[in-house]
Amino acid sequence: MGANGHTEKRPAITGVYGYLPDHVLTNAELARMVDTSDTWITERTGIKERRILKGEGLGASHMAAEAVRGLLTKTGTAPAEVDLLICATTTPDFVFPSTANLIADMVGLGPIGSFDIQAACSGFIYAVSIASQFVATGQCRKVVVVGADKMSAIIDYTDRATCVIFGDGAGAVLIEPSPNGEGIFDTVIRSDGAGMIHLHQKAGGSRLPPNAETVAKRMHYVYQEGAAVYKFAIAKMAEVASEIMVRNNLRADMIRWLVPHQANRRIIEATAEKMGLPMDRVMVTIHKFGNTTAATIPLCLWDYERQLKTGDRLILAAFGGGFTWGASYLTWAYDGAAAGQKHGQRLS
Ligand code: UT7
Repeated sequence: MGANGHTEKRPAITGVYGYLPDHVLTNAELARMVDTSDTWITERTGIKERRILKGEGLGASHMAAEAVRGLLTKTGTAPAEVDLLICATTTPDFVFPSTANLIADMVGLGPIGSFDIQAACSGFIYAVSIASQFVATGQCRKVVVVGADKMSAIIDYTDRATCVIFGDGAGAVLIEPSPNGEGIFDTVIRSDGAGMIHLHQKAGGSRLPPNAETVAKRMHYVYQEGAAVYKFAIAKMAEVASEIMVRNNLRADMIRWLVPHQANRRIIEATAEKMGLPMDRVMVTIHKFGNTTAATIPLCLWDYERQLKTGDRLILAAFGGGFTWGASYLTWAYDGAAAGQKHGQRLS
């Protein structure tokens, strides 16, 4: 029995949906905006293009609501059936209220519990770990987790070191008691606030509220010391992935898919190599979507859904601002080909 006398249930992902804005920002276009080139961006990051949300008054909630609506339609879930909504985002519509509150209202989910998780690029894994607990204890039956980021809102398009990397997007999953015993088995989440110096937004929070000077000094954008973050990202993503494999008695040959946060193709390749996984067992979308922060992992699942088979073993792994990092071990709970064919807005 779990908390509140509920029976423990295995939580499982039973559906996934994604949303990407229409506007494509190519490397060629960026090369007209800052001193960069398609060759540099492709060789150093693996990114060819990314999506940008255009339209006045549209925030992360817009993309998240689209993803959640698609998810509910696809899985045949009535809004009234959803018990809880968790949104992972670093680009909330407002400082308050939470973006999750807005999404729940936009989608018509009623007065359910909804809240945001801030764990930067690891946000989706953090949110999945929380959602899993609600389902495992029986406190909730259907939980929606959505990772959504409008990174273009906090990117300085005069800074070539950051503007080439990020994109906008949202991905949502439904988590509910497993229909067949497959599902989410384990999650590890970690953080180290000392990493803040390498990756943060300098102003706009309570420590340095916005004023004319912070705006003039361009302090409301992502500040990243790329090389330092790069080193930590490879070390920590591989470390946490291997930790979760060891404690679940998994060998590399048992893993069908690594689903890594998409920050840099070189980080993805180095992590896979450290884990002993060939690249044909690694999900990669970075070339077409860039780094969409909390949305990268659900967008990978959505993009590869048709290749996912019931029982496939997946390791999700992420690293991001905080620093935060984490990994999940799950087995896929449904036939992705059938679900993906029936409903699938696909970009590839
Ligand atoms: O998702 C959240 C966590 N974030 C990450 O995991 C990102 C981790 N970091 C990275 O992916 C990489 O560090 C970057 C892609 C951000 C940068 O790649 P790098 O190979 O580490 O480049 P660097 O920052 O060490 O810069 C190398 C050179 C510098 O020139 P000098 O000083 O050697 O003359 C930069 O000024 O490349 C220059 N550079 C660029 N050149 C052309 C930096 N950005 C660009 C650019 N185009 N866009």
